[in-house]
Amino acid sequence: MSKKKILGDFQTPIQLARNVISRLFAGGHPWERILEPTCGQGNFIRACIETASVREIIGLEIQESYVGKSRKIRSEAVKISIYQQDIFDINLAESLQWNSVSPLLVVGNPPWITNAKLGRLSGENFPKKSNFQRLSGLDAITGKSNFDIAEAIWLKLLHEYANDPVTIALLCKTSVARKVAQYVLDRKIPVNSMSLYRIEAQRWFNVAVDAGLLKLELNQGEISYDVAEYDNLLDANHTKTFGFYDGNIVADLESYRQVADLEGTSQLVWRQGVKHDAAKVMELTHRDGILRNGYGDLVDIETDYLYPFLKSSDVQSINSGFVPRKYVIATQKKVGQQTVHLRDNAPKLWRYLNLHADQMDSRKSSIYKNAPRFSMFGIGKYSFQPYKVVVSGFYLPARFVLVSEYQGKPVLIDDTCYSLSFDEEWMAYLICALLNHPKVSQFLSSVIFSDSKRPITKGVLERIKLNAVYEQANIDQLTNRVTDSFGKSVNFDRIGVDKQLQLFESGE
Ligand SMILES: C[S@@+](CC[C@H](N)C(=O)[O-])C[C@H]1O[C@@H](n2cnc3c(N)ncnc32)[C@H](O)[C@@H]1O
Repeated sequence: MSKKKILGDFQTPIQLARNVISRLFAGGHPWERILEPTCGQGNFIRACIETASVREIIGLEIQESYVGKSRKIRSEAVKISIYQQDIFDINLAESLQWNSVSPLLVVGNPPWITNAKLGRLSGENFPKKSNFQRLSGLDAITGKSNFDIAEAIWLKLLHEYANDPVTIALLCKTSVARKVAQYVLDRKIPVNSMSLYRIEAQRWFNVAVDAGLLKLELNQGEISYDVAEYDNLLDANHTKTFGFYDGNIVADLESYRQVADLEGTSQLVWRQGVKHDAAKVMELTHRDGILRNGYGDLVDIETDYLYPFLKSSDVQSINSGFVPRKYVIATQKKVGQQTVHLRDNAPKLWRYLNLHADQMDSRKSSIYKNAPRFSMFGIGKYSFQPYKVVVSGFYLPARFVLVSEYQGKPVLIDDTCYSLSFDEEWMAYLICALLNHPKVSQFLSSVIFSDSKRPITKGVLERIKLNAVYEQANIDQLTNRVTDSFGKSVNFDRIGVDKQLQLFESGE
């Protein structure tokens, strides 16, 4: 990996640095002192000396060549000190020598690189691999092994300036901004204002990530953990506020408050679809009565083990005239079931699987270790129930679809989708109608961050309290809507509905 990548070295274009500074100083903020913790070639410093109030700037940078470039910046009115320094080697609040104690702004663009990448590096370009791993509380913010070094820098600043009236404004991924917001809430760090101004990372850095300027004020007033979100850096007004409601992070607080009564625990169990990690072998296309695998080979196997199959894109486009595009081989009826019986019960399938044993046996995920040969996951009784309400994990707004058996066979879904399974059609129909209620859409769009890689997860779906929707919904209107989309209606067992929903309520 190049040194540039190792150090997360994407220098901020001067125009973006100027936009950031004019955003921050708008409204006449009187910062006199600036700390640029990873100053690179110094574009934030250049933008800062153009302001009226700044008197003193300290820039830190690990790379000598950049230190040299930053040291060339001159100003009559501003004292600029640039140090070659790994920021993880010093305590920022204690070690830096300032001329005054006037208001401090920490501004910059720390490296956008994950520690997982860093772990793969030789270390020679990143002195001592930097000391960031020793920071206390890092686990709390990251939770996982893969996190951004920018997160570690945020954490360091928050701890070292915990008692000072400091404003910190750093460009970072929006995912990092959310973790920082969660972190300050969990640790009750005295934050009194947070704003996230989105930037076009593609335009400025040629990278396809969601990013923005997170500005956070410490020790300057009443504590608040709400984050005002602006669509663009220079917008005058924010479009929404994200924050926390009963400890849960919520993407749009105002919208969420209107539907917060839906927050609860689903008494129905959401299931993720099947996982097999061998699409070319296990997923077959069906055209003109011919089955082919992902290698384009003709496949002749016992159809007892073949099921119509839906992937996320199918779920988005499915309608009443549904004809499956794909089929999936189901080697098991439940997780862990032995598969050797296939040798006698489905000899053609057994031969086919053995023909592709190399690929099946080399599946990387640890879940396949010590599992019966040709195993799959995300499979159980629910996979084979005749009626399902299905949603893709990838698309917003969420579209819940009713999927019935196809030619007498239950339809299976892939692991990018989630489903509820039913034995009775009317029940699936009702639940599908409830889930497509506008309040559910509002609930989901208010809790979900649309830039998440997989916006809809099992965790989010399990938060929808269907009883609350049912109590408020006009069932006839709702079921008419499902009827319109699926081209057929279903007779309800009204007594059954009430009984069933009471069961959800009591959690039986
Ligand atoms: C994304 S670049 C941004 C540079 C500059 N802040 C700007 O906005 O143009 C990140 C900078 O952090 C520097 N850097 C990386 N790790 C550092 C560390 N541990 N201490 C100080 N600087 C570091 C890199 O050399 C690089 O110049």
